[in-house]
Amino acid sequence: MSTEIIRPARSLSGSLTVPGDKSISHRYAMLAGLAEGTTRLSNFSTGADPHSSLACMESLGAKVVHNSDGTIEVTGVAGSFRQPTTALDCGNSGSTMRMLSGLIAAHPHTFTLIGDASLTARPMERIRKPLSQMGAKLNLTDGHAPIVIHGGQLQAIDFTTPIPSAQVKTAVLFAGLQASGTTSLCESIRTRDHSEHALRAFGATLTRSEARANEPAKLSIVGGQSLHAIGATVPGDISSAAFFLCAALLFPDANLVLDSLGMNPTRAALLDVISALGGKIKVLTVEERHGELIGTIQVNRAPAAPSSEPYIISGALTAQVIDELPVLAAIAPYTAGGLIIRDAQELRVKESDRIALVAKNLTAMGAHFTENPDGLEIPGNQQLHGATIDSGDDHRIAMAFSIAALGATGDTEINGAESARISFPEFYTALDALAQR
Ligand code: S3P
Repeated sequence: MSTEIIRPARSLSGSLTVPGDKSISHRYAMLAGLAEGTTRLSNFSTGADPHSSLACMESLGAKVVHNSDGTIEVTGVAGSFRQPTTALDCGNSGSTMRMLSGLIAAHPHTFTLIGDASLTARPMERIRKPLSQMGAKLNLTDGHAPIVIHGGQLQAIDFTTPIPSAQVKTAVLFAGLQASGTTSLCESIRTRDHSEHALRAFGATLTRSEARANEPAKLSIVGGQSLHAIGATVPGDISSAAFFLCAALLFPDANLVLDSLGMNPTRAALLDVISALGGKIKVLTVEERHGELIGTIQVNRAPAAPSSEPYIISGALTAQVIDELPVLAAIAPYTAGGLIIRDAQELRVKESDRIALVAKNLTAMGAHFTENPDGLEIPGNQQLHGATIDSGDDHRIAMAFSIAALGATGDTEINGAESARISFPEFYTALDALAQR
């Protein structure tokens, strides 16, 4: 287990290009693997998770080439995955395991999906239900991985996601793409819509009827559609940028420019949260590619102190910033008004129990707060001190407390620091380049 020592900083300044978005990279890898032709991807995530998706595509018969210029070419199987000869190893990636299950369920083979200890502890019943309603046979191990899928012809279903989950939505859409009939899906809380954009980019037709009185928005996908290869650039990952956006809140003269940043509206609520916590965000450029917004932003700290009332993240907003909650919580003690996080029980079944680990590490750094079953209440205006951090081998916990360490008194030791490789291998180098000491 590697450790990193993080020294306090005086300020934060410079420009940064974050790696390609993890969520979009997974989707492009999977749809390219199923499509006909060779897809060429630039700025594919450097994180280990999307590379687990690429490796699974290879096991299923797609060809993956890593070019010396950093681009990745995926030649797809033109609609027919082969029977893999070994288990599909999803590593640490819940997105790979859940979305891939939907992608392969219509293929007449037996697939075994495995993962590391953290992934094996995460709930998988949420995908078994809809996929077995469609006709696939999924055997879980006590509700978890390993998963054995006996695939075959699927029938369309009408499904309402019981929990806000883009991974479950995607599993159903990917299966619906290959089922007979029209699959429809309702979400009570709207989750990230990268799958919808990616499916359209690869040539599928997908419709969305907007919510009306008493009727939630509905997605519909006709089965039996085939996909064609594309050329695409993956936007920068806003969930990776989040660490530095939060770091900018710690210093009055912070100045940070982030370019090629994914600003999809279903992910960009984070920017509103940063503004509410005292950040000043200027959008310098913005353009659209394959339905995704990409832009350049400049972040400073607002001169006027923000409200001294706690900022509340609850309901739909919680789902929209679910991956950013650990870092928001880690820097919350330094904010003027503090932070209340509610409706975040899903955080307990991520790569770790993120509420428990945030609580443990805030305590180690000397913060006072209240832990609730579905969130945290963290008063502002607190000075943290350096401590030894238990990352639980969870990438977002390791990076979140590295940011909290910048504003602390004394050095902080991050145990399990290397877990950052799951989504952001360049994190510590970027931190060193931007932190002014
Ligand atoms: C993701 C969806 C979210 C998120 C995860 C990535 C995706 O999970 O936490 O990091 O790419 O669709 P859920 O769908 O389980 O909420």
